[in-house]
Amino acid sequence: MAVQIKLSVFQGKTIAIDGPAGSGKSTTAKLLANRLGFTYLDTGAMYRAVALFALRNNVSLEDGNALAQIAKTIKIEFQNDSDNGQLVFLNGEDVTEAIRTPEATYGASAVAVFSEVRSELVNQQQEMGAKGNMVVEGRDTTSVVFPRADLKIYLDADIRIRAERRFLDAIHQGEESSIDTQVELLKARDKNDSERKASPLMKVNDAVVVDTTSLSIEGQIETIIKIAKKRFTVV
Ligand code: DC
Repeated sequence: MAVQIKLSVFQGKTIAIDGPAGSGKSTTAKLLANRLGFTYLDTGAMYRAVALFALRNNVSLEDGNALAQIAKTIKIEFQNDSDNGQLVFLNGEDVTEAIRTPEATYGASAVAVFSEVRSELVNQQQEMGAKGNMVVEGRDTTSVVFPRADLKIYLDADIRIRAERRFLDAIHQGEESSIDTQVELLKARDKNDSERKASPLMKVNDAVVVDTTSLSIEGQIETIIKIAKKRFTVV
């Protein structure tokens, strides 16, 4: 007798989340993946890991070839963790916190301008995501990494709100900061990320924009799940 298995409408799907710094991508993607039982792929962590390795080994952040070589040879791995959501390993070392320092953050933005670095990391990301059941988050995930993702979300928020979120993160990490400083840092990063030649930050035509300015994290997740259910349910 044939057993009918009712597959979830989410089964095998890939959801890509893009948007500027501080729009809530990471937290939303992590929790959404958790809710759906999907793998969470944090592509920004991979650029951060390349930058961290370069900084530690005195490799110039302007040497695209050397940085691409690093991207090719280092081993970046992710591991789920009940406390932190996800741990990031660089050649076997837990660098979850080390890749979040201001130096690694701005280093990541610098290494991400090189197309030779990007193509190496994009290949690795596409391999990781080949089987679907994944929420992938990052600057070019809707345009370059998974242009055929089942659902593309572009998260956005008012710069002041984004700066407030970054300020709270900074305070949490014991850094001194102010909201105005964060506004300036975000402006610089937005400019860097939007104006670079290789895979600039952009909203692709088929992305659904979710403005998170006045949404809680839970509200963001509920909104995306609602959009996804509608998209994946064939009527
Ligand atoms: O999302 P994040 O802050 O962890 O990203 C760190 C830097 O890496 C950011 O300046 C943009 C860059 N990045 C990218 O160019 N492409 C991605 N897919 C992810 C991040």
